[in-house]
Amino acid sequence: MAKIPFFDYPRLYLDRKQDFLRIFDEVASRGAFILQQDLSHFETELSAFTGSPFSVGVGNATDGLEIAWQSIGLEPGDEVGCCSHTMLATASAIKIAGGTPVPVDIGSDGLIDPDAVLAAINSKTVGIMPTQLNGRTCNMSKIMQIADQYKLYVVEDAAQALGSCFKGKHAGTFGHASAISFFPAKVLGCFGDAGAVLTGDPDRYDKIYQLHDHGRNVNGEVMSWGRNSRLDNLQAAFLSFLLKDYSRVIERRREIASLYHDRLSMLDELVLPPPPDSDPDHFDVYQNYELQADRRDSLREHLTSDGIGTLIQWGGKGVHQWDRLGFTLHLPKTEDFFRRCIMLPMNMFISDADIHQICDCIHSFYRS
Ligand SMILES: Cc1ncc(COP(=O)(O)O)c(C=O)c1O
Repeated sequence: MAKIPFFDYPRLYLDRKQDFLRIFDEVASRGAFILQQDLSHFETELSAFTGSPFSVGVGNATDGLEIAWQSIGLEPGDEVGCCSHTMLATASAIKIAGGTPVPVDIGSDGLIDPDAVLAAINSKTVGIMPTQLNGRTCNMSKIMQIADQYKLYVVEDAAQALGSCFKGKHAGTFGHASAISFFPAKVLGCFGDAGAVLTGDPDRYDKIYQLHDHGRNVNGEVMSWGRNSRLDNLQAAFLSFLLKDYSRVIERRREIASLYHDRLSMLDELVLPPPPDSDPDHFDVYQNYELQADRRDSLREHLTSDGIGTLIQWGGKGVHQWDRLGFTLHLPKTEDFFRRCIMLPMNMFISDADIHQICDCIHSFYRS
């Protein structure tokens, strides 16, 4: 049986090597490395694609989330409700920007539970940070309603959700700001770290722009303190090229999700992500295919012994379970989720035959 890696990093480059070499040669020959036209083109394209009025390319989404909160201004003691089923970067952005992350539990969809957000609100709460996880956008009607009612800021962690929509609106365009990641394994991934911050507010855009470039505005005048977290022009040129193909990429990922669903939905031992179009409010891009499984660890060993790569995300723990960070919370749904979750290969490099091989292997495990 052929081996199926969880993600085949070399193919990201090798499948279209000639195109990437051409782009590298063209951009490098112009000496266009920092804050050049390829970056501003990409930012414009990203705004057009998502419908966000402003986009700023940054070094990575973690910086982007931190910059988003810094543009709002968190004071010591300010609390922000965030999901615990997320990358640590979500919570660390709040912390590094000067606030206090308050992880809350998930709903049955594995995303932040709006009722848990509501229950965590107190006089110190200033914001909400939903994570648009695995390429699915949260119920943003409920989140924004809570934010409006309590006058809270919303920064979306849309690192995993470029192209995903809720009620026809793109992830990353609901709140005051958001960040997207272009880490290599992301649906739109480049050859290193990269990210972008989105916002709809021109004043916030100015602030975000300054924060990402040493406090300088678009004319190079120093307006405030800042840092260096710019998206490399070369990476932006690769991303522009990859964005042209994005609809096809999303379509293929949705096909893979449908096929997994068709082959696995009869197994009572599994809880699968919703298949494409099962809920008219959601358009999912399947950054990951994360399911919950009975006897998860043995299933994973079984798949590994057949050469099939899987992933248990983020060290198998929710944010609040990293004791050394000082959390003393108990979030039962998140903890249960992390005992059962596993990701199957979901990317452009796997074929239908690979998916059948993976599903056959899972069926053989539960039959035995
Ligand atoms: C949910 C989530 N938030 C934030 C990040 C951080 O993104 P980056 O690696 O671009 O800093 C990631 C990256 O994997 C992520 O999945």
